[in-house]
Parts: sequence; structure tokens; C-alpha cells
Amino acid sequence: MKYEPTHLEIFLTRLAFLLCGKSVYQAFADRLPLDGRERVLDFGCGMGTVAYYVAKRLPQGHLTCLDISERWLNACRKTLRSYGNITFLQCEAPQLANESFDAAYCHFVLHDIPENELERVIPALARSLKPGGVLVFREPLNETEKINVIKRLVEQNRLFHKDSRITDIPIMGNALESVYIKHNGGLP
Ligand SMILES: C[S@@+](CC[C@H](N)C(=O)[O-])C[C@H]1O[C@@H](n2cnc3c(N)ncnc32)[C@H](O)[C@@H]1O
Repeated sequence: MKYEPTHLEIFLTRLAFLLCGKSVYQAFADRLPLDGRERVLDFGCGMGTVAYYVAKRLPQGHLTCLDISERWLNACRKTLRSYGNITFLQCEAPQLANESFDAAYCHFVLHDIPENELERVIPALARSLKPGGVLVFREPLNETEKINVIKRLVEQNRLFHKDSRITDIPIMGNALESVYIKHNGGLP
């Protein structure tokens, strides 16, 4: 569902990023299982809060920042202007090429997407991963019903649960962080 933020919303998000960037976004970025050479997708990048820290972890890799919103993507370009290893994409998940990423992450994105749209988004994210690729999401823990939908769709798309943790995020409260691996062929 496309929604364009107001200038105030972008300003407040940038302020929160400056004040809490390390504890909220860097902590998540640092836990992503990366060795620095991967092709990574930030799905629903917003103004690049997480991407700012992930890009630093990819000296020989590449980060694609995808958002449905033109304004958020423009704000993201501004946040990441000093990096050279980034592609910005304004599109929807079903337009992604198959098996193009080693890892994809969604940070506070999926819980906001209606179930009928998730039924297109999650299979597309799964298809965009290479065999053995990793999907990580972090969503508010109080969105119990939506989290159950997300887990069901992820598992129906041959992604296998590897790890989960609950993190207590300043201001935002408890969130569920889960890691899934795409099966790399043959029977599970
Ligand atoms: C709450 S913001 C989170 C932004 C960023 N990940 C963060 O944690 O700061 C959700 C973002 O997801 C984007 N979004 C929502 N639905 C989307 C979709 N179907 N495809 C791509 N981006 C989407 C929104 O435009 C927005 O930028």
C-alpha cells in the first residue's frame, strides 16, 4: 500500500536516527549474518536508517535499497550519499529478479502491509534470494496476528527457521527478530 510521508515525518525520523541510530538500527545491522561480500536487499528501506550501517559492512558487496515511496527513497539517497556500493529501487517486491540476493532484511516493514499484499510480497522476497540465502525480519512483538501470518507465508515459501530473539528497543518497545534460510535445492 503506497503512502508518501510528510516533510515533518521525514524530519522526525531523521532526528530519531541521529539520537538513537546506534542502539536501534546499528544493533540490528550488526547482527545480520554477513561477511562483507554479499549482495543484500533492504526491503522497505525508508530513509536508510538500517542501510546506513549495513552499507559499512559490505566493503566488497552491494546493497539494494528498495522502497515503494519516492519520498522515502529520496531521503534514503541523502542518508547514503557517501557510499558507492548502493542501488536505489522504487518498485514492489514482485518486480525483483529471481535469485539475485544472498540476504534480504525487512526492518519494521512487514507488519504494516495488509495480508493480501503479503501474499505477493513474501513469495517474491523468497524467490529473490539465492539458494542458501538469508531472510531476516524485525517486527513489533505486539503485532501478534500479523507476525503469525508472516511466519506462515515465510515457511510456505521454503524458508526454514534458523533463529529468533526478542529485542527491547528504546522508545519502540519489544520486537521479534527472526532469521530464515532458503533451502538450497533437493528435499528439506
Ligand atoms: C515504518 S517504515 C520503516 C523504514 C525502515 N526500514 C526503518 O526501519 O527505519 C516502513 C517502510 O516500508 C515501506 N513500504 C511499505 N510497504 C511497502 C511495499 N509493499 N514495498 C516496498 N516498501 C514498502 C514504506 O514506504 C516505508 O518506507
